[in-house]
Amino acid sequence: MSKQGRIFSGMRPTQRLTLGNYKGALENWVRLQDDYECFYCVVDWHALTTGYQETADLRQNIRGMVIDWLAAGIDPEKSVVFVQSHVKEHAELHLLFSMITPLGWVERVPTYKEQLRQLEEREINTYGFLGYPVLQAADIVGYKAGFVPVGEDQLPHLELCREIVRRFNFLYHTALPEPRALLSKVPMLPGIDGRKMSKSYGNAIWLSASAEEVQSQVQQAITDPAKIRKNDPGHPEVCNIFTFHRVFSTGVADVEERCRAGSLGCVACKRDLAGKLNLAMEPMRERRARLESRPGLVDEVIEDGRERAHRVIARTMEEVRAAVGI
Ligand code: TRP
Repeated sequence: MSKQGRIFSGMRPTQRLTLGNYKGALENWVRLQDDYECFYCVVDWHALTTGYQETADLRQNIRGMVIDWLAAGIDPEKSVVFVQSHVKEHAELHLLFSMITPLGWVERVPTYKEQLRQLEEREINTYGFLGYPVLQAADIVGYKAGFVPVGEDQLPHLELCREIVRRFNFLYHTALPEPRALLSKVPMLPGIDGRKMSKSYGNAIWLSASAEEVQSQVQQAITDPAKIRKNDPGHPEVCNIFTFHRVFSTGVADVEERCRAGSLGCVACKRDLAGKLNLAMEPMRERRARLESRPGLVDEVIEDGRERAHRVIARTMEEVRAAVGI
């Protein structure tokens, strides 16, 4: 079986995943499995860079994230699914990269100063947080991944990674590959009520939601405020339910036309959407139920992933240590 190259991507185990995460990233990860050799990593050390003060739920969140991934269709036979902190070489390569990375490079990463300001109360004025993108570079380069599926917000980190690789190759005469971003096209979904998706608003549709939960979340959402009676003509462009239709439905044109014409009422339109969401989520529910009935399986996947990841990064590290001269 010949594949087009190697992929690395990661997510911080900070919260349960939503339908937005599925459409924004996971669905793409699932698709890529057939064409690339994929390494999918739960980056728990990255979670510590901002969340070092509250670690009580970290183990549980890591496990929860792996379950969300597998339920979404990540296949551990095809892809390597593992936890960053289980493979210590990530830390070693991060350390070596940190030696050659000028402070100016990390200080000018746009997410850095912005997050320092936004997360002021979290006290992330730390050495580890400054090094966040250097650790990310080590994640990717440890596997010599050529491609990194990420959202647009991660492009500065990828650019920094490429600069670190170039400097490393120059200093130590190695030929480590410079990874390229694979941007996913789908826009991030807002919450079902149209506001930013947030735990505190209760507007996130969790990947683990039951059919009844999805039904009731959709039913409660606000639609076009000008469409009061079911036969009033609607304005799909201002309706969040339509945003979801656009992302999840086939036959959107029909929904749009009937809404505008006033022949589709909001109740029926929502019922239709909930049905479509549930249809897409049903295979995930089946996989989740199977995983829950065999709790040992998740541990096996994580352990197998650790071994497979280690085998690859260990080889890179032999080359890297020799090149550096230690
Ligand atoms: N920084 C990424 C994010 O917040 C997570 C991440 C860590 C990552 N290491 C990575 C993504 C390596 C891609 C490749 O989404």
